[in-house]
Amino acid sequence: MSTTQGKDSSTSEFSYAVEDGVAVLTLDQAGQPVNTLSPATGAEFDAMLRRAQGDAAARAVVLISGKKDCFVAGAKIDFLQTIRTAPEATRVSREAQEGFNRLAAFPKPVVAAIHGACLGGGLEWALACRYRIATDSPKTSLGLPEVQLGLIPGAGGTQRLPRLIGTQAALDLILTGKSLKPQKARKLGVVDEVVPAPILREVALRRARELADGVLIPQRKERGTGAMKGLGGILKGLSQADRWTELALEENPLGRKLLFDQAKKKLLKKTRGHYPAPEKALQAILTGMEKGLGAGLIAEAELFGELVVSEVSRRLVEVFFATTALKKENGTADSKVKPHPVKKLVVLGGGLMGGGIAYVTAQSMGIPVRIKERDDAGVARGIGHVRGLYEERVTKRQMTWREVDAKMALVTATTETSGFKNVDLVIEAVFEDLALKHQLLKDTEAVTRADCIFASNTSALPITKIAQASRHPETVIGMHYFSPVQKMPLLEVITHPKTAEWVTATCVDVGKKQGKTVIVVNDGVGFYTSRILAPYLNEAAFLLTEGADIAELDEALVQFGFPVGPITLLDEVGIDVGEKVAQIMHAAFGERMAPAELMKKVTAEGRLGRKAKKGFYTYEGGKKKDVDASVYALFPSGADRKKLDRHDMAERCVLQMVNEAVLCLGEGVLRSARDGDVGALFGLGFPAFLGGPFRYVDGLGVGKVLDRMEFWHKRLGPRFQPAPLLTAKTQFHR
Ligand code: NAI
Repeated sequence: MSTTQGKDSSTSEFSYAVEDGVAVLTLDQAGQPVNTLSPATGAEFDAMLRRAQGDAAARAVVLISGKKDCFVAGAKIDFLQTIRTAPEATRVSREAQEGFNRLAAFPKPVVAAIHGACLGGGLEWALACRYRIATDSPKTSLGLPEVQLGLIPGAGGTQRLPRLIGTQAALDLILTGKSLKPQKARKLGVVDEVVPAPILREVALRRARELADGVLIPQRKERGTGAMKGLGGILKGLSQADRWTELALEENPLGRKLLFDQAKKKLLKKTRGHYPAPEKALQAILTGMEKGLGAGLIAEAELFGELVVSEVSRRLVEVFFATTALKKENGTADSKVKPHPVKKLVVLGGGLMGGGIAYVTAQSMGIPVRIKERDDAGVARGIGHVRGLYEERVTKRQMTWREVDAKMALVTATTETSGFKNVDLVIEAVFEDLALKHQLLKDTEAVTRADCIFASNTSALPITKIAQASRHPETVIGMHYFSPVQKMPLLEVITHPKTAEWVTATCVDVGKKQGKTVIVVNDGVGFYTSRILAPYLNEAAFLLTEGADIAELDEALVQFGFPVGPITLLDEVGIDVGEKVAQIMHAAFGERMAPAELMKKVTAEGRLGRKAKKGFYTYEGGKKKDVDASVYALFPSGADRKKLDRHDMAERCVLQMVNEAVLCLGEGVLRSARDGDVGALFGLGFPAFLGGPFRYVDGLGVGKVLDRMEFWHKRLGPRFQPAPLLTAKTQFHR
């Protein structure tokens, strides 16, 4: 690296130039799509700062990125993964903190000029600067997402952010890992100023000079160390009386501890102890508030060290890498296959799923989408559904009416097929009925080009069967979205043996542009996700038949780590839908998928779940209430419930799902264990801290899983027959 003073120069990471009295340090890591923070970068930055310090031509410094839409995306995660011990990670954290301490104490003012992602280590870097300017671009986002990887900010973030913006706002950001858009960041005080992207550099240089001249003094709100005001958000659940106590104890260190304990209790209720990072973040923040910045930084580094080598963080980082890898793939074995452009899309059926698909198409892809319905009422319902989703965004202040109108202009609905000649992709989301889907496929092919793709959103009908009605089956494929489409992150693309590779690549591309994580699986009954969900739900139904209490059973799986229990889930997806899929599975896989008889009785009573406001739970004003105890009358043992062991209940359901996933891999439905993990995590809510069904087997050890399968096999019969890959003691991830 050059240390020549007064001259412009560059290294593999930074360039140095002096303009009108300001040293401009531009970070642009060679050969990398985004900038990241690592010890090597920190060392280069230090050298750059030293140079600026000794450079008489520079009165101030601007730190800016040379990347198109990224300031600094975070710490270099592959580097973190190479760390083997907690003390080693703590040392890395301490070094980063010391580097940023030097930056914070730098005698010349430093301005961070932020455009694009400013996350994790990137934001910590900016926080140590004297002044922060962000662009108003939608590409700009700021946050400390470390907890999402099972970590905490380890370069001073847990200390500098609360001091800058107050405890409440800082806890809200650090404990959830959510990121901020520029205006919100300015309102909270994370950045001092927001400007249009084209003038970022110019304004940053001006502010740097003004700071150096003493004519700009950053306006910061006074932040006392009274942490309590900040806990309001976390303590929302407290009663009025508790709030008085909160106020009374505000300035008192003992009271502070009590209230942090309350916050911790609330956190634990949410994480169930499975995700330690937010608790550790809370601990680091509290230490800083009680004992000052120095002690806070030491605590932060120690806790960061523990977390880096924790199993939970390893799992979450692996998930991050799996999704990053999926983003780069085209869904076929040949990376040279190119997707065709999709400029116009039709959705057949504007119901629950079709409306959602139309919405994500307009919203995320920004292309025209036409809903085709069977009658005028369907047309009105379809458009109404999309509009309703947009209204929600306006209510939540995420969009303005003007933005909504621009998006709604992309969405049309019709009963006609005029204009279908220009359509590139048709996604079918009509009723789950093979004859109807065949009819619509033929009708569509009569009015579209031969290279128009026909994708079905069926939940379980084999794509091979749907394609049988096609004149060009190579253009037929499955695109299985999850409900609610606008929220669920997964898209499962299903190919049948004749699907052309460009068709797969095109649908994967569309899914990504709709904001989804996309896995591609081979055709089979229930594909992957519906197939592994069916025996899981079936096991829950067997447990109810044996006398399990509904609330206890749901609690057992929530405690295991699922977002909701299986009985709540059945109510959500529709008990009739679950029952129908169970029948399909039984027909396809025989004895081991024999459904629990109970479900038929439940649906026969008109208990279809939430949509009928009648299921295993009661519903009032659209909200789930209590278990509907009258349902027990349908069960063999009636209202007389047995106390079954929670651990056994969870294990039985989970093993059913895991074993089925392993079967899918063995049969070639799944192309990789990685895809199986991602599908279960993002489509079915498999606990992220376990990394997915295959990571779960690897984590427990395949021998242990096999033992447990055999244990239940002896007691409960063929449905616990271990998959051949388990019997062969396969390790799924190296
Ligand atoms: P839905 O009943 O809400 O919507 C179906 C829509 O199709 C209705 O609006 C109906 O008017 C329309 N339709 C029926 N015949 C038509 C025709 N000939 N031409 C045009 N439109 C017609 O059903 P939902 O839940 O949206 O399901 C649609 C498909 O998606 C099904 O195949 C289902 O298995 C699948 N699916 C459903 C999921 C769910 O959670 N509901 C999840 C994943 C897939």
